[in-house]
Amino acid sequence: MKILVTGANGQLGMEMKNVLETNFPGNTLYTDKEELDLTDRDAVCRYVLRNDISHIVNCAAYTAVDRAEEEKAESAAVNVDAVKNLGIAADAVGAKIIHISTDYVFDGRNYRPYKESDKVNPISQYGNTKRAGETALIAYIPNSIIIRTGWLYSPYGHNFVKTVLSAKKPLKVVCDQIGTPTYARDLANAIYRILRSSQWVEGLYNFSNEGVCSWYDFAKAICRIAGNTEYPISPIPTEDYPTVASRPYYSVLDKNKIKLTYDVVIPHWEESLTECIERIKSGEE
Ligand SMILES: NC(=O)c1ccc[n+]([C@@H]2O[C@H](COP(=O)([O-])OP(=O)(O)OC[C@H]3O[C@@H](n4cnc5c(N)ncnc54)[C@H](OP(=O)(O)O)[C@@H]3O)[C@@H](O)[C@H]2O)c1
Repeated sequence: MKILVTGANGQLGMEMKNVLETNFPGNTLYTDKEELDLTDRDAVCRYVLRNDISHIVNCAAYTAVDRAEEEKAESAAVNVDAVKNLGIAADAVGAKIIHISTDYVFDGRNYRPYKESDKVNPISQYGNTKRAGETALIAYIPNSIIIRTGWLYSPYGHNFVKTVLSAKKPLKVVCDQIGTPTYARDLANAIYRILRSSQWVEGLYNFSNEGVCSWYDFAKAICRIAGNTEYPISPIPTEDYPTVASRPYYSVLDKNKIKLTYDVVIPHWEESLTECIERIKSGEE
């Protein structure tokens, strides 16, 4: 088994590196844009062939949800064309792919946690490109595994947890968008379980932590756990916090499929948040 992790400098990529370096030392290659620009099809095909890659974990993406509304070509290049390139390269050598997608493929009008089989209807350019990436990949590699996740955070890069922790003023946070945070380390551990499993069950999977909250609840928990009491946090409706891109009001994911298929045990979001805050406080980033 020779694994390629793309987007290795991103939040999930960094956590994949932590998990795999411990468990598969020497068997994994890690690339980001500088080593391997995934929008360059020839380079991707050459790299996968030359390195005899058997498994690809694609953590690379264009993740700037608001900027994507302006940068339509750039977001599509990474979230669609690059995914297609990986599919073509994997197809040429018979490699398997685990690709990461998003809860933003849904419109957020559901009344119960989204199952993998629920109808998609993205409401943003980011969501549209991620959905197009899913379909492009399935067209090239029907046996790929695609994991949809949401509200990702880690000690690395930019994310909501780090923004709230570093706030130096009172915060107003939307209280009517409901979802579940995902600790990137927990997702990386779930991907590791799939890689080391004796069975490869193709298809879509959902993954987030357990539990449900609003962004406001999430912000309050971050400050409570970190012991940050200096600046108050107030709830506001989405209409008082306009953003360039629309976001789903409800994006809770049903995780039964991944739990049953791969025996994944998922911690509650507050438990994982506590661990991540400890890591951030200890200086990891
Ligand atoms: N973050 C979230 O809240 C969230 C929510 C739902 C789903 N997801 C999905 O989860 C996955 C991991 O997200 P993340 O938060 O870890 O993303 P991230 O931190 O933004 O990392 C993505 C990485 O991909 C790299 N990349 C961009 N364009 C590339 C290219 N052309 N070739 C090679 N690498 C390229 C980026 O490099 P640069 O930084 O230099 O561009 C970055 O290092 C993505 O598929 C994302 O769509 C994320």
